Amino acid sequence: MTPHNHAKPGDYAEAVLLPGDPLRAKWIAETFFEAPKLVNSVRNCLGYTGSWKGKPVSVQATGMGQPSLSIYVHELINVYGAKTLLRVGTCGGLNAKVKVRDLILAQAATTDSAIVKDRFGPYNFAPIADFGLLRAAAEKAEAAGMRFHAGNMLSSDIFYHADGFAGYGALPEHGVIGVEMEAAALYTLAARFGVKALTICTMTDCLITKEEINAEERQTSLKDMVTLALDVAIGA
Ligand code: HPA
Repeated sequence: MTPHNHAKPGDYAEAVLLPGDPLRAKWIAETFFEAPKLVNSVRNCLGYTGSWKGKPVSVQATGMGQPSLSIYVHELINVYGAKTLLRVGTCGGLNAKVKVRDLILAQAATTDSAIVKDRFGPYNFAPIADFGLLRAAAEKAEAAGMRFHAGNMLSSDIFYHADGFAGYGALPEHGVIGVEMEAAALYTLAARFGVKALTICTMTDCLITKEEINAEERQTSLKDMVTLALDVAIGA
């Protein structure tokens, strides 16, 4: 039990999917899990445990942004023994080659957040995905014929940039292909505590072409992303 989570040790599986949205956590548990059980509802930040293809798996909402995700992830690792953490989210597009509904596997995560500066002194730490999870996700996405890109993601603390696309500066021309708000903190905590992490995002709004996904398309592509993440999580 923690101030943010009333689950007991043992209530979570070692593999945990991490959507930002609590209702998406509920949807994932109720749509995909066999025998889903609610394990946390503090602040309505819902967490569930069940199984997928006979293997134990959990889902825990993280809320939006790196400070919120960091609380849940720190506790999942240090209190509940999580070993494999897979963020499933949505992101904006910073490269015209990435089309709406495409998946981005965040191979690395650039950030503007102070959370990743903490403890590194003069160094710019480079938060990266676990290579085994990244490779498994890329192989499975390819085999399933899903459109995906592996590359550098921006995890920003700012959703509404005052300068719009110009606010991303030189990042797009340095191969940063998407923007969301959580991956860099997830990768930094995973590195610090010696566990595995990967972020998979569906690109829902391109900041260059202004193309956006509609609600129906969102649901279909989220299904692809979640089944991919669940297969990677259990090592299927
Ligand atoms: N910015 C940050 N996070 C996001 C975006 C965005 O444009 N789209 C979806 N998540």
